Amino acid sequence: MSKTSLCIEVPRNYGQKALALANKLGISDKTLEIQRSERKIFIPLLHRPEKNELATLREQVPDFRLTTKVFIEKKQEKKTLGEVLQNRLPPHLMTFVPRALDIVGDIAIIGIPTEIKAYENLVGEAVLKTHKNVRAVLAKASAVTGSYRLREFSVTAGENRTTTVYKENGCTYHVDVAKVYFSPRLSHEHMRVASLVQEGETVVDLFAGVGPFSVLIAKVVEDVKVYAVDLNPAAFELLKKNCRLNRVENRVFPILGDAKHIIENKLLGVADRVIMNLPEKALEFVDTACKALKPAGGIVHHYEFIRQPDSIENMKQRFSEAVEKTGRKVDVFPFAKAIRETAPYEWQVALDAKIL
Ligand SMILES: C[S@@+](CC[C@H](N)C(=O)[O-])C[C@H]1O[C@@H](n2cnc3c(N)ncnc32)[C@H](O)[C@@H]1O
Repeated sequence: MSKTSLCIEVPRNYGQKALALANKLGISDKTLEIQRSERKIFIPLLHRPEKNELATLREQVPDFRLTTKVFIEKKQEKKTLGEVLQNRLPPHLMTFVPRALDIVGDIAIIGIPTEIKAYENLVGEAVLKTHKNVRAVLAKASAVTGSYRLREFSVTAGENRTTTVYKENGCTYHVDVAKVYFSPRLSHEHMRVASLVQEGETVVDLFAGVGPFSVLIAKVVEDVKVYAVDLNPAAFELLKKNCRLNRVENRVFPILGDAKHIIENKLLGVADRVIMNLPEKALEFVDTACKALKPAGGIVHHYEFIRQPDSIENMKQRFSEAVEKTGRKVDVFPFAKAIRETAPYEWQVALDAKIL
């Protein structure tokens, strides 16, 4: 970006002196780049120098003149939360300033440690300063709980709302972070799974939320049928909206209800692939996933939270045993990996299983 500004024009041999003086007088515009020609230097100014300032300039830099010129604006260096809050929080509390936050559309979600709870609004305002696209800052006010996997929030700065529009992997989602589960930290996983789906498949997304697996799959695979189930009426309404918004309503079929009930009553033996992103409880739904699979078998994407000393090998073992109870068996695990850290020493692990 460029801007026309009043400036001091001086011969190059007076450049350093003129710049030091303009800085000392507080009249140089530091947001603009100084310009140089073969023989001259141009120092952008914040305003026309006062009489006494002009006198000082004339005294110390004899050969200068005031003129106007087009200058390039300097790139603003991005400040961290810590830098913005420096000197505003007691120094001994600075270590509690959060280093990470989640951004969902124009909403920032931040965990504020109890030690700096009293400064919550100050931290919120600092987030608005450091993240120009953020309009509302929400502080986590509870853990994620209940069947719908929700948490409570308090608005600490900006607009008082929990709804936003979020873009991920080329899709657009309406989200209400207070009424539906949503994590931007799963965007790679959504894409990883979507990229495995083949043309002609039928997919069952047992815990679909607002649709980040289902909608994306239908966006990247043309000949696909996705049954997207969720228990939460708010998620179901947003899922329908997101299907329309992303023009996949002819391939994604949102269904409101309990996954066990829906599979047993409507979707027995239809799926080539089942997605089970409900890490706390997915193991309880392995029989449901197996019932949804076609008789010839298919792929199940299973998720769990694993805390040391538990391991991915134990998870495979648990999963295999649950599959065997249904009369099927795991042929192979093509993928087993921690996909994100969820707490100290705790990870969300994705396990892909080929089931016969
Ligand atoms: C962890 S969220 C995952 C949402 C989505 N797949 C994503 O990646 O953002 C789990 C979802 O499962 C839904 N859920 C919980 N129990 C369910 C059940 N018995 N049947 C169907 N959906 C359920 C919740 O409402 C929630 O939206």
